[in-house]
Amino acid sequence: MQVTRELFNEVMVPNYNPADIIPVRGLGARVWDQEGNEYIDFAGGIAVNVLGHCHPELVNVLKEQGEKLWHLSNVLTNEPVLRLAKKLTDATFAEKVYFANSGAEANEAALKLARRFALDNYGPEKDQIISFKQGFHGRTFFTVTVGGQAAYSDGFGPKPGAIDHVDYNDLSALEAIMSERTCAVMMEPLQGEGGIISPTQSFVEGVRDLCDKHNALLIFDEVQSGVGRTGELYAYMGLGVTPDILTSAKALGGGFPIGAMLTTTAIAAHLKVGTHGSTYGGNPLACAVAEKVLDIVNTPEVLNGVKQKEQQFREGLKAINDKYHVFDEVRGKGLLLGCALNEKYQGRARDFLVASAKEKLMCLVAGANVVRFAPSLTLTDADIQEGLARFERAVAAVVNA
Ligand SMILES: Cc1ncc(COP(=O)(O)O)c(C=O)c1O
Repeated sequence: MQVTRELFNEVMVPNYNPADIIPVRGLGARVWDQEGNEYIDFAGGIAVNVLGHCHPELVNVLKEQGEKLWHLSNVLTNEPVLRLAKKLTDATFAEKVYFANSGAEANEAALKLARRFALDNYGPEKDQIISFKQGFHGRTFFTVTVGGQAAYSDGFGPKPGAIDHVDYNDLSALEAIMSERTCAVMMEPLQGEGGIISPTQSFVEGVRDLCDKHNALLIFDEVQSGVGRTGELYAYMGLGVTPDILTSAKALGGGFPIGAMLTTTAIAAHLKVGTHGSTYGGNPLACAVAEKVLDIVNTPEVLNGVKQKEQQFREGLKAINDKYHVFDEVRGKGLLLGCALNEKYQGRARDFLVASAKEKLMCLVAGANVVRFAPSLTLTDADIQEGLARFERAVAAVVNA
């Protein structure tokens, strides 16, 4: 069968609009398309391929597990899931883990748990969930409604209720809306899709204090910021503010679908037998791969490497900007970086993405005004240099167009 981009339009639901090329192979930070063109990948499958493409140790563990046991369902437990849960709880504040298949599912579990916890402890009046404008938490109807972009949640009929949004980094707005009715506050400790926005230290600390004051749970959505991305295993560690529930996905499987919700024993106790579940959650293949990802990422070598590579990116991007004057700032943390376009280039992030693709560089946008990079955490100096050289040519092409 001849597989072409046209086939996509013929057989796929049109909710995506992928690029014209079809990649067929990847290794480290490089990807090749059907024509054999080589790309540098600064997108990482949207902050997923944390160890690049086809990392040999991940390939090995997947092959080994693939010859042992693929799937059981949660009628039975398995060795990889228990090893992974043990390692995640050893490495974080959490004492208990629930596994899902994606970020949205991990967040769905977190939100349901928060509602059940409040109901059991305080009664049905305590149902308010507060989240932040421009936040993104997934595409199930509950998570997309908690997300702060009406464009994504409108047009599907009646929404789940008791969900309010306030501006990110606006502590007084949060304070004004919180009360004993507040069940949980859900936030990204570094907004990704919303434009690579870091929280101020006083804001995160303030959110934690307000949650404590009103007996509300603090949920950190670390689906994008987690698993080494910011140079810490999870971003909360760098902020020194501990949530009650944390969700992880994307990079956790290094490209194999998996999601996880982490919490304490006392909170977890409210998801009793039968209250929630998933056929695939905790699948042995996914958990075997994620265990290996965690073993490799949660080392000083990789985490410190992220901080060094961040500097290389920042220096390279500054040099480009000194020449072409297109960004107001480079923001974000670790290897989740956003170039915020200045006044002159407002709304044109996509143009930079398209120009980059022409230069055989894969990058991302975060809204209409930010070009985003979320590459492998282990990409080499040569990858960074060559990728930035391609990005410079792309910037020049947009500026000189
Ligand atoms: C912070 C955050 N939460 C949740 C999600 C949803 O994850 P998934 O697409 O795996 O459902 C995303 C995806 O971009 C995300 O960035």
